[in-house]
Amino acid sequence: MNVLLIGSGGREHALAWALAASPLLTKLYCAPGNAGIEDLAECAPIVSMDFDGLVAFAKQKKIDFAVIGPDDPLVGGLWDRFEAEGIRATGPSKAAAVLEGSKGFVKDLCREIGIPTAAYQRFDDAAAAKRFAETLGLPVVVKADGLALGKGVIVAETAADAGRAIDFMFEGGFGASGKRIVVEEFMHGEEASFFALCDGENAVPLAGAQDHKRAFDGDRGPNTGGMGAYSPAPILPPALEQTAMERFIRPTLAAMATRGMPYQGVLYLGLMVTKDGPKLVEYNCRFGDPECQVLMMRLKSDLLTVLIAMRDGQLRNLDLRWREQTALTVVMATKGYPGAYAKGSVIRGLDRATKVEGIQIFHAGTRRVDGAIVANGGRVLNVTALGQDVAEAQARAYRAVDLIDWPEGFCRGDIGWRALRR
Ligand code: AMP
Ligand code: GLY
Repeated sequence: MNVLLIGSGGREHALAWALAASPLLTKLYCAPGNAGIEDLAECAPIVSMDFDGLVAFAKQKKIDFAVIGPDDPLVGGLWDRFEAEGIRATGPSKAAAVLEGSKGFVKDLCREIGIPTAAYQRFDDAAAAKRFAETLGLPVVVKADGLALGKGVIVAETAADAGRAIDFMFEGGFGASGKRIVVEEFMHGEEASFFALCDGENAVPLAGAQDHKRAFDGDRGPNTGGMGAYSPAPILPPALEQTAMERFIRPTLAAMATRGMPYQGVLYLGLMVTKDGPKLVEYNCRFGDPECQVLMMRLKSDLLTVLIAMRDGQLRNLDLRWREQTALTVVMATKGYPGAYAKGSVIRGLDRATKVEGIQIFHAGTRRVDGAIVANGGRVLNVTALGQDVAEAQARAYRAVDLIDWPEGFCRGDIGWRALRR
């Protein structure tokens, strides 16, 4: 089969690595890809929102199956477009991607079907939103309803901050996605991510993982897309994974089918594990990044077979096989990220770092210039290791990090700390 992968991050390099190992694969293409993906796939410089360009390329290369990595093209309807053109693809559909595309929709759904989540209300008016925020105590959480490049959530520590956050959103601070907002109660606890594959009717659990969203050690500093992750995560023991399936994923799948928008795709459940049990923070309609990198290291089953079964509604009899080891990934980012940063610095030492036992290095924002690998984004590399436990995977990952010569980059030094503290 000819397969086209859409995206350019570390998540997509990990997906490319798993797809490249499939016995079903004839040739792998990627749009637009990065310097790491180029070693596994033929890359074409077409961005994920250029649907016409992607369809034309897919037809020219006789693509049998497309794998869509990022949220924007899914929420924008790329799955619908591919399928309308006769190209099978991983979803969800534009309609079902509302689980990531509208936070208000998800909150209403939770209320209707009894999924535990933070108390909330939806608003399209600042004065009413502020009045409600004052009833919730502090901190209080203000969210733009739509996609906002992962930045649409403000945790306000004071009533004045909450007021400013609400005004900021209604004044267009997050563009159109902030015209409607959700104001909700702050949940205390530890966050974890859980992933499932859904075929519209049936769901199969993937695995749990824990991300590190803050930029600096000790979970301090600004929020980022994710600075490191590991799987399995001790915060999600098997009993809690079962709860995730039974109390969150399966009821959501059933409700989406009843509403005429069956959910077919990877479903990412962001949980807050509170003293009253797990509660929903958010749904995403795709693999997490960098959580995908650790899941792919652990997955033994053939990814392409699994994704095709998901697309074809055949998950009922699927059994996934996993490595028992722990996978852990350390994100190396350009200094300045998640704020302003420079592009173009040269990265050396990747060959020797890759030779450390148990290591795979997945590229995110990289580009090849005259044979050298240069940084081309905020998050740049995912140094990923397998080990017998979190401690061994962590030690291997940082041994490899130490062999990478990139003065313009930085990483957290404590990925995995919550698991090691237990
Ligand atoms: P989201 O985009 O919904 O994942 O929100 C981004 C981050 O904000 C989450 O990963 C949490 O760390 C935090 N967050 C969102 N909602 C809440 C909440 N109700 N209570 C505490 N933290 C929250
Ligand atoms: N790692 C969080 C995300 O992919 O949104």
